Amino acid sequence: MAKSSLLACFSLFLVLPPCLPVDPDLLQDICVADLSSNVKLNGFACKPAASISEADFFFGGLAVPGATANTTTGYLVTAANVDKIPGLNTLGVSFSRVDFAPGGLNPPHTHPRATEIVFVLDGTLDVGFLTTANKMVAKTITKGDVFVFPRGLVHFQQNSGAVPAASISAFNSQLPGTQSIAATLFAASPPVPDHVLTEAFQIGTKEVEKIKRRLAPKKAAEEDVN
Ligand code: GLV
Ligand code: MN
Repeated sequence: MAKSSLLACFSLFLVLPPCLPVDPDLLQDICVADLSSNVKLNGFACKPAASISEADFFFGGLAVPGATANTTTGYLVTAANVDKIPGLNTLGVSFSRVDFAPGGLNPPHTHPRATEIVFVLDGTLDVGFLTTANKMVAKTITKGDVFVFPRGLVHFQQNSGAVPAASISAFNSQLPGTQSIAATLFAASPPVPDHVLTEAFQIGTKEVEKIKRRLAPKKAAEEDVN
């Protein structure tokens, strides 16, 4: 490469913001999220130091099993992210707890902003993820086991036992984001046009409409808001 091209590349690197594979690094000890602020930036604006307390760094919600009854596929996610713990703002980590009824399925989904590492609290889970080469990496894991879902890859968990199961997941993002594949495509608002779905899935309009009806959002039923 000519000297001038190298110089041009290097100058570009200096002026472009660095592309980090994780949440950006913090520039101060803490920046407790002011969730009510209208200031829009990458993350949340910081609360004034005078109004920060231990409550901003606490969440007791993971101690309680999520109610899986009346959910479509028998699972419930309880997120412990910056929306629940404002003190996580800028720290690049969060948790979630997932409870599963017997046979319950956390359907295929992705987290665009985080790798997930799951720890089984109770029960037995069939878990897996799919690479961009469409290879499935799957395993049955049980109490005390850990499994990793790399950032952005589609993954799922199903309780393969006859009793309830539960797991805790850690994420390298304060707000990993969740896109559930079926709901993203069939329950979007405004809806994805039927012809896109019939062609993509090689099925008829009637089948598309049926899936759309079944996946229509329920009022505050399943929470999956990492
Ligand atoms: C589990 O996969 C979760 O997203 O919490
Ligand atoms: Mn997940």
